[in-house]
Amino acid sequence: MIFDRTLDQAETEIERLRVEYPSASILSKQVDITDEVAVSEAVVHTAELLGSVDILLCFAGVVGCVHAVEMTATEWRRTLDINTTGSFLCAQAVAKQIILQGTGGSIVFIASISGHRVNFPQPQVAYNTSKAAVLAMKNSLAAEWARYGIRVNSISPGYMDTILNEGDGIADARAIWADRNPMGRMGEPNELTGLVVLLASNAGSYMTGNAEHLGFSS
Ligand SMILES: NC(=O)c1ccc[n+]([C@@H]2O[C@H](COP(=O)([O-])OP(=O)(O)OC[C@H]3O[C@@H](n4cnc5c(N)ncnc54)[C@H](O)[C@@H]3O)[C@@H](O)[C@H]2O)c1
Repeated sequence: MIFDRTLDQAETEIERLRVEYPSASILSKQVDITDEVAVSEAVVHTAELLGSVDILLCFAGVVGCVHAVEMTATEWRRTLDINTTGSFLCAQAVAKQIILQGTGGSIVFIASISGHRVNFPQPQVAYNTSKAAVLAMKNSLAAEWARYGIRVNSISPGYMDTILNEGDGIADARAIWADRNPMGRMGEPNELTGLVVLLASNAGSYMTGNAEHLGFSS
């Protein structure tokens, strides 16, 4: 089940997955993850449709490049509301469902290198703060929910070549990011797959509270 605020961008990919995996049930639902009622209802509905909810992968997020002195409170709150509070609301709703099932499960947050170190050259204090908060949240929830057999981990990708980082306006920044990385390039989205499988499956059964890095990290 894929939740997204707008499904237009996702629909083509979902269609491709349905063709590639014809025996799998691949569903989507329009959900704004900052809306606690919508998130809660969508998770319960997912369990009804699919039989259970066992894994949450929390990818939804936004970034804005705004100088700190020009940042409006609205923009600051929007970033934290989606990246941090939205991730919490999804985790809370899924944890409630997993506790009800008594099955245990796995929650994976997508943090960022920005949660560990400040980005350069772009100014993005709200994003960096929101992702550092995701890392702290992951630690707290891993400790609180271990008793229910729920593992909570996070992935901190380096710069990935996705829509988030597209546009002529950031061509210079993209060149700097690739240049400062010893591997000399941004990551491809499919290079996340290994970590997601590790953390979501029994291969990671003794992993909780971990922040896994993807890309160059020293
Ligand atoms: N691309 C990178 O370089 C990079 C690096 C580190 C971390 N990340 C993180 O990875 C995650 C995915 O990023 P991406 O590059 O695929 O971005 P993306 O813009 O391609 O995807 C983000 C998705 O989140 C959805 N979304 C935004 N607000 C929402 C809301 N309120 N409710 C529901 N859905 C909402 C968007 O519609 C979009 O489909 C984000 O959390 C991002 O911060 C990205």
